[in-house]
Amino acid sequence: MDFTTKLNQLTRRVDQALDELVPPHAGPHAGPARIHEAMRYSLQAGGKRLRPVLVLAAAELFAKSIAEALPAAVALECVHTYSLIHDDLPCMDNDDLRRGRPTAHRKFDEATALLAGDALLTHAFVLLSNHYAADPRLATALVRELADAAGGARLIGGQMQDLLAEKKSDATPGDLDYIHLNKTAAMIEASLVCGGLIGGATEADLEKLRSAGRHLGLAFQIIDDVLDATADSATLGKTAGKDAKADKTTYVKLHGIEAARRMAKEQTAFALDALRALPGDTGFFVGLAEALTVRGK
Ligand code: IPE
Ligand code: IPE
Ligand code: MG
Ligand code: MG
Ligand code: MG
Repeated sequence: MDFTTKLNQLTRRVDQALDELVPPHAGPHAGPARIHEAMRYSLQAGGKRLRPVLVLAAAELFAKSIAEALPAAVALECVHTYSLIHDDLPCMDNDDLRRGRPTAHRKFDEATALLAGDALLTHAFVLLSNHYAADPRLATALVRELADAAGGARLIGGQMQDLLAEKKSDATPGDLDYIHLNKTAAMIEASLVCGGLIGGATEADLEKLRSAGRHLGLAFQIIDDVLDATADSATLGKTAGKDAKADKTTYVKLHGIEAARRMAKEQTAFALDALRALPGDTGFFVGLAEALTVRGK
C-alpha cells in the first residue's frame, strides 16, 4: 500500500473511533450535553490527526492490530485537542480560528471552552484505564506515559515557558528548544511510545521510538513556526502571522525562515535514523516524516 493510501486509511479509522469513543451530545441535563457538544465541536473540526496516526502506526510496527491501539490513539487526540482549546483562549494565544472554524471560546464562551478542555483531558485517562484494564501493566504504563507528557514538566511547562518568553529579546536557542521540546515534542514522543507499549516493544525499541518522537516533534514545531510566518489563514485553518504579532520566541524569530527550514530537515533526518533502527517495515514512518517537512498546514 502506498504512503498516501495508508495515511488516509489510518486517519479514517481515527475519525470513526473518535466518534465512537467520545460521549454523544444527548442527555437529560443541559450541562453535560453542552460540554459534550463542545468537545465534539473541537474534535470533529478536523485536524491532521498526526498523534493518533503515530500511535496506530507504532503499534502496527510490532504486529499489533490497529483495533487494539484505537482507544489510546483517541486518548492522545483528546489531550492534543484540549491543549489547542486552551492554547487559543484569550488568556493564552487569544485566537479566533482553529481547524478552519471559530475557536471553542468564540463558538461557545470562555467557560465552556475551558470546561470542554478539562473534560477532554480527563476523558483520555478514562479511555486508557477502561480499554486496557485486562492488562493492568499496560494500562498503568500508558497512563504514566500520557500523564508525564501532558503534565507540568512537559506540555504544560512548555506552554508556560512559551508565554513567559513573549516579547523577550534575550531568549537563547536553548530556551527556544526547551519550549518546543516540551509544548510539542512531548506529545509526539508519547504517541510513538504508547503505540510501542501496546505492541509490546522492548525497552531498547521504546527508547528508539522516544528519540524519533523527540526529533520529529521538534521538526514539527519548527515547521509550525515557519508556516505561521509564511502561509495564509485560510490554508492553515488558524490565524497566520500571530507569532510575530505576539512577539513569540520562535525558530523564525531566532534563526530566520531559511535556517529554520534547514534545522527542521536536520531534525527529520535524526528522526529517520532512529526510526530506521526499529524492527519491521518502517516505510510508512519514513514517508510520514518526509511529508511533514513539506506540509502546507
Ligand atoms: C497544532 O498542532 C499545535 C502544535 C503543536 C503545533 P497540529 O498542527 O497537529 O494541529 P491539528 O491537530 O492538525 O489541528
Ligand atoms: C501550541 O503551540 C502547542 C500546544 C497547543 C501545546 P502554538 O501556539 O504555536 O500552536 P498553534 O500555532 O496555535 O497551533
Ligand atoms: Mg501557543
Ligand atoms: Mg497558539
Ligand atoms: Mg504556532
